[in-house]
Amino acid sequence: MADTALAVPRHIAIVMDGNGRWAKKRLMPRVVGHKVGMETVVKVIDDCARRGVQYLTLYAFSSENWKRPDEEVSGLMNLVLLGVSSYLRRFAKDGYRIKVIGERSAVSEKVRAAWQEAEDLTAANTGLTISVAFNYGGRWDIAQACRAAMRDGLAPDEITEDALSARMALAHAPDPDLFIRTGGELRVSNFLLWQLAYAEFYFTDCLWPDFDAAQLDTAIAAFHARDRRYGGVKA
Ligand code: IPE
Ligand code: IPE
Ligand code: MG
Repeated sequence: MADTALAVPRHIAIVMDGNGRWAKKRLMPRVVGHKVGMETVVKVIDDCARRGVQYLTLYAFSSENWKRPDEEVSGLMNLVLLGVSSYLRRFAKDGYRIKVIGERSAVSEKVRAAWQEAEDLTAANTGLTISVAFNYGGRWDIAQACRAAMRDGLAPDEITEDALSARMALAHAPDPDLFIRTGGELRVSNFLLWQLAYAEFYFTDCLWPDFDAAQLDTAIAAFHARDRRYGGVKA
């Protein structure tokens, strides 16, 4: 058992995959899966807060998800608006701090404004930090951090790991301890390429709309059984 056996992971990052297949199994449109998936998001946020997780990062829309049919993309955009209007006030009251990471310039004015409102209304909160990865790609993140470093006038020798980390989209959070991917695929799909360097990976076949508190506890138990060495040797 690891020394940190009973410490809850400080930062959990989740690839919430499987909404489309969940709907397909029920002969329903994919966007219905996304809608039910959003209810799962709300439950998992509360479950993480209750367990003392401090940072939760959720992959909601990847840089590559624009390749989906227009109807699905607009369904997902509408869900952002619905989610913010339905839950933002309650989340703000519960002390959650919301951050949105990703390339914002490509999303519509309405969606941008909703994300801005979510960040502004929760900026002073000190509870669970929820980072929503939206139009996010790990490669985009590394490239934008390099661009920011150049804009800040850093010389080549000053482009260190710390200098880039400070400019990455998750600079407000420590690196994830536990990475969870639902939906059965064993890949990262361009999520937090830089920040996952020493995360523990947990994959489950459970489709995202079916993910619940018991599944979360199973993932956390798997995390507790890991021996994190960070390249060193165990004392
Ligand atoms: C994940 O579910 C949610 C998003 C990518 C927005 P999918 O829509 O990828 O579901 P599957 O993988 O097709 O089942
Ligand atoms: C990853 O899931 C992106 C999100 C969950 C938002 P995808 O369904 O897009 O990933 P691939 O296409 O299976 O790699
Ligand atoms: Mg998928």
